[in-house]
Amino acid sequence: MQNLKANIAKQLAETIGADSFESTYTDVLTSLEYPPDSSMGDLALPCFKFAKLLRKSPVMIAEELASKLRINGIEKIEAVKGYLNFFISNDYLAKELLPEILEKKDMYGSSDEGKGKTVVLDYSSPNVAKPFHIGHLGTTVIGHSLKLLHTFCGYNCVGINHLGDWGTQFGKLITAFNLWGNKDEIEKGGIDALVALYVKFHEEAEKDSSLNDKAREEFHKLELGDEKNTALWKWFIDISIAEYKKTYAQLGIEFDSYKGEAFYSDKMMPEVEKIRAKGLLKIDDGASIVDLSDYNMPPCLILKRDGSTLYPTRDIAAAVYRKATYDFDKVIYVTSAGQSLHFAQWFKVVELMGYDWAKDLVHVPYGTVSIGGAKLATRTGNVILLRDLFASAIDKVREIIDEKSPDLENKDETAEAVGVGAIVFYYLLNTIIKDINFSMEDALSFEGNTGPYAQYTYARTCSLLAKAENTDGSEIKITAPEEAAMLKVLARFPETVLRATHEYEPSYITRYILDICTGFNRFYHSCPINSAEDESVRASRIKITEATNYVLGRALGLICLKTPRKI
Ligand code: ARG
Repeated sequence: MQNLKANIAKQLAETIGADSFESTYTDVLTSLEYPPDSSMGDLALPCFKFAKLLRKSPVMIAEELASKLRINGIEKIEAVKGYLNFFISNDYLAKELLPEILEKKDMYGSSDEGKGKTVVLDYSSPNVAKPFHIGHLGTTVIGHSLKLLHTFCGYNCVGINHLGDWGTQFGKLITAFNLWGNKDEIEKGGIDALVALYVKFHEEAEKDSSLNDKAREEFHKLELGDEKNTALWKWFIDISIAEYKKTYAQLGIEFDSYKGEAFYSDKMMPEVEKIRAKGLLKIDDGASIVDLSDYNMPPCLILKRDGSTLYPTRDIAAAVYRKATYDFDKVIYVTSAGQSLHFAQWFKVVELMGYDWAKDLVHVPYGTVSIGGAKLATRTGNVILLRDLFASAIDKVREIIDEKSPDLENKDETAEAVGVGAIVFYYLLNTIIKDINFSMEDALSFEGNTGPYAQYTYARTCSLLAKAENTDGSEIKITAPEEAAMLKVLARFPETVLRATHEYEPSYITRYILDICTGFNRFYHSCPINSAEDESVRASRIKITEATNYVLGRALGLICLKTPRKI
């Protein structure tokens, strides 16, 4: 579609006048719209904006242009009430678009826009020893999807899990372990046993506040490098990462780095000194802060009264380290919107420190998740663990598979891909900033606009292709409107990828997937594919199915969904 849009923009800009070529060209490119209904064309351009330049009414402009313009790939142009409606020719779809997709296969839609540029993505980043709960679903899947999108657009990407692996919670955990812990039990119970210890600490500390002093002491010892505490701390982290990795594997996520907050322990003081040297540090009630009142923000806290560092201090040190290590062109931080102020504050501090790359730091905030309907029991009380949410979806899908496809091979693998995929798809269907209320039933429906429906459509393309004959060398001809409609959806993939990447919005891909599924299912129900009688009609339909398979498979992959070939 981008080539077509460019053709339209070029012809129009030339026709309207050479002096304003550049501005008209970009203007047309950004103003072309997709009409809500195909009787109004495949692309439409409002002519109101040219009225001033051409000193004519939009209606007249549209009519004149419609009769003058000849554009490659466009077979008909209609002027309707000041709009130009463009109709894409079947010839373009058959001779240019389809061959392009079949040649590029699952790389169709990729680009080299990011060539030579590095993007660091900081996402997921759970806090060790605290539950990995559904609040982390957003950062995990949005973050990973943005990484996949950027990679697909040619950027060199570095995915970092900025683990919350430092802080007073470790003093609490060490204290609790020393008092009530048992090595074997924790080896066996994993992260649940750690969280249980942490919860017990809080219960006991309610009754005996001296435990808090004890915890502070243990954390202080850890900060000083005490051998025993350091060994415990490392062990707690290993246990936690092993558990996170199970969830990441279900989502197909791997990180390039697990450098968490602790890694920056010795990298903060030099930055604090730089802040001080710039004259930015103020002492406020004993704490060291950077006053941001000129920027309408509360002060950014750099050091506590006791001289210990804080969350923003670690983020500043981490950003400096990442610039030196990766020489990034951009860093993307994905967290809940609750942390927006934190990021705005320390981004400002980095700017005031004089780092010119402060402008390359981007915070991508997302809304909250709540769960209605079915209550999911967890062992940790009021929070719902991501793992449990996935497990319950997988169980439900497994039941459906047992009932509907009892002979399926790899039932477990498929149930996992579909169960987890259902949750991710449901979640990424919304604009990320929107708060969502999660409904398991809606997410798992095979009929609605869901992950299972999309994966099922993908599996349908696979099974059609598995039965299809070889189509090499056959002529392509488009005979049914559903074929053309399907290809027109596929034509939009490259620009959808770019838009989702530029706006940090995976939901554009999710919604686009639904358009592919609607288009494909219409095509499938009205056009016999493998059983079409005419040889070239059959070959063309097989090729359309193949093209859909590439694009749908890739699009699902870009939002962290797996693509079983059979369901
Ligand atoms: N560990 C933090 C949390 O769970 C998120 C860390 C986000 N990344 C960062 N560089 N601050 O809230």
